[in-house]
Amino acid sequence: MKEVKAIIQPFMLTRVVDALKQIEGLPGLTVDVDVHGFGRSRASKAAHKITLDEIEYAKKAKLEIVVEDDMVDIVVKTILENAHTGNPGDGKIFIIDVENVYRIRTGESGPGAL
Ligand SMILES: Nc1ncnc2c1ncn2[C@@H]1O[C@H](COP(=O)(O)OP(=O)(O)OP(=O)(O)O)[C@@H](O)[C@H]1O
Ligand SMILES: [Mg+2]
Repeated sequence: MKEVKAIIQPFMLTRVVDALKQIEGLPGLTVDVDVHGFGRSRASKAAHKITLDEIEYAKKAKLEIVVEDDMVDIVVKTILENAHTGNPGDGKIFIIDVENVYRIRTGESGPGAL
């Protein structure tokens, strides 16, 4: 299993999630609609930013999606296609190994619990 973690422009979130929901078998996702950060280009030119202790951070949205390995490519492709404006600050996608998952209601674990 992998976690696809995407940091995207907040104004692209609904479009991205609408597209992800079309993927057959997508087990679920988590969003944080209000995260802040910066990339290589820093946040000085970001349209929406906050300043904390004189450091500027751009406003972003975060998506976390844990899937079986064979679904990583379609999830990444969907995010790449739907979060893209071509401008700096479009964001990043990280792929992270996930060791296990437990469904709390039943106690089951492993990919079947996704
Ligand atoms: N290496 C990183 N580690 C953790 N978060 C990151 C990293 N790079 C970018 N981010 C997060 O992704 C957001 C968007 O990054 P951004 O798209 O500005 O990257 P960039 O490298 O500056 O590319 P671009 O030139 O397209 O702006 C950042 O505000 C930050 O929250
Ligand atoms: Mg940038």
